[in-house]
Amino acid sequence: MPYITALLNRKGGVGKSLITVNLAAVIAEIVGDDQAVAVVSIDPQATSVEHAEKVRQAGRDVPFRVVNAKSQNVDQLRKLRRAKADIIIVDTPGFMPLKGDDDDESIDPLGDGTTGDALRAILDVADDVIVPLEAEGSAFTPTKVTIERVLIPRQIPYGVVINNWDPRDGTADLERTQSLVNRRGWEVYNSTIRHYKQHTRGITNGRFCTQYESNHASTKAKQDFVSLALEHQLRRQKYAGSR
Ligand SMILES: Nc1ncnc2c1ncn2[C@@H]1O[C@H](COP(=O)(O)OP(=O)(O)OP(=O)(O)O)[C@@H](O)[C@H]1O
Ligand SMILES: [Mg+2]
Repeated sequence: MPYITALLNRKGGVGKSLITVNLAAVIAEIVGDDQAVAVVSIDPQATSVEHAEKVRQAGRDVPFRVVNAKSQNVDQLRKLRRAKADIIIVDTPGFMPLKGDDDDESIDPLGDGTTGDALRAILDVADDVIVPLEAEGSAFTPTKVTIERVLIPRQIPYGVVINNWDPRDGTADLERTQSLVNRRGWEVYNSTIRHYKQHTRGITNGRFCTQYESNHASTKAKQDFVSLALEHQLRRQKYAGSR
């Protein structure tokens, strides 16, 4: 049975798609088997699918399977545990409300449209969830809704991954974000994904972090995903079969 990890944050643009493809690429490189890892996208924008296409168009290898599962295929999503793969990483869309319903406990924050249905189906089969959080404060309320109204009530193991922190900005934002996370008592990955231009350009350049041109910054950019992959593996050992 595959181990299914979903990337989730109600806020858009926090790095769900970037982390999906680069974590998958690093795991596939470590495992050395292009059938072991799959990326499934339930995002209508399908950024991770597009990224993989750009890599192929650039003549480079996509070392994992890519499935563009449009939001409608809810029944297919429920069968994901029967898929032939060791690890499945699921990229999801943001799900910000049109009007502020964050404090209304009677409203399901996942919403009642097809996106909400797809998200509920994935959360039913996910073994754990990675919640990307940018180290600049603005995503904190949507992240709180994601963790405290979606994940904790469903008892899904999760870990916050602080993403897109630029060391050139100093440590203040990172430390403030870490302390907010700790004060809420949220589960958090030790690995932080730093901001690198190589990551931002990865989709246009048709590269995963395992394929960046070799230089010092690229090595450091990839290293963050290697650390994340190791930590993810430890969580897999801990949580596989627990739901
Ligand atoms: N660590 C990083 N370093 C550099 N750029 C980053 C980093 N993380 C994210 N980005 C950039 O920020 C933008 C948003 O990232 P991404 O598309 O992965 O977010 P998302 O959560 O999937 O957004 P959406 O909710 O719209 O699907 C992209 O242009 C991406 O390249
Ligand atoms: Mg995305």
